Order: sequence, then C-alpha cells, then structure tokens
Amino acid sequence: MKECRSTNALMVEKLSAPLPEGTVLITSCQTAGQGQRGSSWEAEPDKNLTFSLLLKPSFLPISDQFYLNMVICLAISDTLTQYTSKKVTIKWPNDIYVEAKKICGILINNFLKGCQFEHVVVGIGLNVNQENFQEPKAVSLKMIEQKEVNLVEVLEILLGNIEKWYLALMQKKYKNIQENYLSKMFRINEKHLYRSDGIFEGTIRGIDPTGKLAVETEVGIRYFCLKEIEYVM
Ligand code: BTN
Repeated sequence: MKECRSTNALMVEKLSAPLPEGTVLITSCQTAGQGQRGSSWEAEPDKNLTFSLLLKPSFLPISDQFYLNMVICLAISDTLTQYTSKKVTIKWPNDIYVEAKKICGILINNFLKGCQFEHVVVGIGLNVNQENFQEPKAVSLKMIEQKEVNLVEVLEILLGNIEKWYLALMQKKYKNIQENYLSKMFRINEKHLYRSDGIFEGTIRGIDPTGKLAVETEVGIRYFCLKEIEYVM
C-alpha cells in the first residue's frame, strides 16, 4: 500500500475480521509510524522496509513470550549478516544494531484470549536505503555498505528467515533459540555503565527464562525488566 499511518495500527484495526496467520501489511510511507514506549518511528518514504506481520502462536505459553521476541530478532540479524560483514548485534530486548548504531526496530502488540495468544502483530522497521536520519544513532544498510539495496529482495529473505525461526519456536527448540540470541547480544560479557537506581557499572551475562536482563554488578547478578534499566554510553 502506498501510504498509511502505521502498519501496526492498521493490522490491529483489521483484526475484527478473520485474517490468516502470515498476513503482511506493508507500506512505502508511514505518516505516523509507532515506535516503542510511545515514541514515533522515522522512515523516509520508498527507502525502507516498514511492515507488520500477523502471527497466531496459540502453541506458545504466555510465560514463554520472550522466545517470540528472540526469534524475530534472530531472523532480522541473520538477514542483515547476508548484506554486511560488520558486526550485527541484538540490543536487549529487541533492537538490532550494526556496530554502535540502530538499524532496525521491532514493535510487538500481543492480543490474548483467556490465557492464550490469539493474535500477535509484529511490526518491523528496517532502515535500508535512507541516508540521513534525525536520530544520530540510526543507520541504514546503504550507509554501511555504500550501495543501494533492493527492498523486495531484503523483504523476501527476511520473511523466509522469520518462517525458519518461527518453525524452530513451534518445535520448541528453546535451547538453540536462546543460545543464538545470547551469542548475538549487544555488549554481552563487556563491562559498561547502566542506569537504574543511579548509575552503576555492570556486565550483561544473559537473560532469565522470562526475558529479564541479567547484569552482573558488584553486589551480584541483578535482573531487570525493560523499564527498569537504561544503557549509558
Ligand atoms: C522501535 O521503536 O524501535 C520500534 C519501531 C517499530 C517500527 C515499525 S515500522 C512498521 C510497524 N508499524 C509501526 O507503526 N511501527 C512498526
């Protein structure tokens, strides 16, 4: 579709009618793209991938929902490594970085029926051919590789990788998923500064089974939810 406010918002509106799992809504121009925590998502028209995918993971216990985040991150990271030899990492919980800059953001909206997933709208904004961003920490494939990339080709590869990792999730390959996610985590096993109740030095060691970030500090391992910790340079 040529233009819409937000592919996630549009998919959510369409959920009142039966839509098959795997439905993709894609636009070349979002006029009100949504980011995480109420932020907006910046993407120049015709230059990037901005789309939403409908999943229905009724097989997934709600307590394991972080595994869905992980498989989406892994699919994006695998796709990017096909285009660049620079280091691609996953900044917990679900930002994709190339070296020190963000190339892709993910916004997941969960809809439950009782205590099961009914719908999950996975929104992906991948910076492909845009060369100027207001956000200083944003980067695109073109900025990294100095060449224009075919949007349809990236989309096809990415959807193929999502299918592959989603099947691994269906098959409960939790160990494999978690190991892969950990091996790609931004700043894992490096000492850095974080902010929670004040600034402290810590080393990311991984995540707990619910997806909380495990950080080793001078008082031992501490576990943080998304809103409880901030990365400091
Ligand atoms: C983030 O803040 O990192 C998440 C960004 C998610 C952006 C994508 S673009 C397609 C989909 N539709 C939206 O409105 N947002 C997501």
